[in-house]
Amino acid sequence: MNYMSRTASLEIDGKKYEFPLVKGTENEYAIDIKTLRGVTNGITTIDPGYKNTGSCESAITFLNGEEGVLRYRGYAIEDLAEKADFLEVAYLLIFGELPTKEELEKFHTDIKAQSHVDEDVKKIIDGFPKSAHPMGVLSSLTSALVAFNPSSVNVDSEEEMYNAICRILGKFPVLTAWAYRKRAGLPLDYGDDSLGYVDNFLKMMFKKPSGEYTSNKVIVDALDKLLILHADHEQNCSTSTVRIVGSSQAGLFVSISAGINALWGPLHGGANQAVIEMLEAIKEDGGDTKKFMAKAKDKSDPFRLMGFGHRVYKNFDPRAKIIKKSADAVLEDLGVDDPVLDIAKGLEKEALEDQYFVDRRLYPNVDFYSGIIYRSLGIPVEMFTPMFALGRLPGWIAQWREMRLRKEPIGRPRQVYIGETYREFKPIGKR
Ligand code: CMC
Repeated sequence: MNYMSRTASLEIDGKKYEFPLVKGTENEYAIDIKTLRGVTNGITTIDPGYKNTGSCESAITFLNGEEGVLRYRGYAIEDLAEKADFLEVAYLLIFGELPTKEELEKFHTDIKAQSHVDEDVKKIIDGFPKSAHPMGVLSSLTSALVAFNPSSVNVDSEEEMYNAICRILGKFPVLTAWAYRKRAGLPLDYGDDSLGYVDNFLKMMFKKPSGEYTSNKVIVDALDKLLILHADHEQNCSTSTVRIVGSSQAGLFVSISAGINALWGPLHGGANQAVIEMLEAIKEDGGDTKKFMAKAKDKSDPFRLMGFGHRVYKNFDPRAKIIKKSADAVLEDLGVDDPVLDIAKGLEKEALEDQYFVDRRLYPNVDFYSGIIYRSLGIPVEMFTPMFALGRLPGWIAQWREMRLRKEPIGRPRQVYIGETYREFKPIGKR
């Protein structure tokens, strides 16, 4: 830790305690309270939702929510979305540097070598009802991978870590595509290793049993960009889950499976599905955005404007800006006219001018426009959150690896107990 000469002092019952301040490379300060319970005889902190709590030091992603800045390993998200491809960004996130041409080629070759899953996995998929949500199928299959690859990874061996990383990056797109194909009633199929990572994924999703798959550069590029924008976002709910599960020294695949479940919720990755469902509902209802704005502001109504607001961004989510631009371009390129895009733009304009949203600094987030692009690429709505998972996979891997290499202690928060104090046991006849 980079300790400063500055300290923070805390006074409890007239007694003063000093705590050191640590400073990050972007000049962010944090009070290091590691010794708090010890020196104060058991006093702890309480911070539901961890709104003020840093859980770790990390060198992967920098996010400044006030200014709307997002960088992976120091590189601006805008540059990466425009100039890099998804595998390059995955390599950068996981290993810390942009790959050379040779490193990238080797990475892709090593991932391709792992792009098969045991045929018995198909029997597990057979056991799911067709109606199963693909996020549930995906998290189950990711856990099941352990059964087919049981040896644990020695995290101190660079080679073993590298192989485990290639294994999950190779198999995850297959599982994601299969979760969709099961639901769509299509035979489970493999892709084509001669294609790029994203192109191959699209082939695995959409190749019809009797037809050829034809690559569409507009679709491949748009999906590549979306995956880059989702690739990491520092200590969000699913990433923190991956780190905390991994901190018990549980393996990479099961930690990622836990992250998939955390991502599924509508306040996190599940928002992309919820946004399109909301926009559709507004359309069905006659397109009256004002009515839905009023619902979102009504404290007695649980409805929230999905795709708006963010725990960290109190300014435009930079990912949303890129996605909005790209939605216009992709829809035009593909010749798609989606009426919900107009509803989304109208809703955004109203919300940005509305005092309730202005006061709370609620801006569109990454999920507000992503569903519109997914839909124009032919991806069905229940696959939106699995697409987020596919994009977030490199981030989860990078964060898990960092946590293990830094030998972080097991995650185990404290609580303030508010239940009954000691009670004498009552035998069943006396209750
Ligand atoms: N619609 C209406 N009101 C909202 C919304 C919204 N989307 N988001 C926040 N608020 C209000 C909230 O009611 C509260 O008002 P008050 O101060 O009067 O009680 C205030 O704004 C602060 O909200 P909060 O719930 O305390 O903020 P949070 O940091 O705990 O929650 C959030 C962040 C993303 C869960 C929340 O903004 C939300 O539910 N948004 C909708 C779901 C969504 O789009 N999620 C995707 C997040 S981005 C993708 C990802 O990285 O996961």
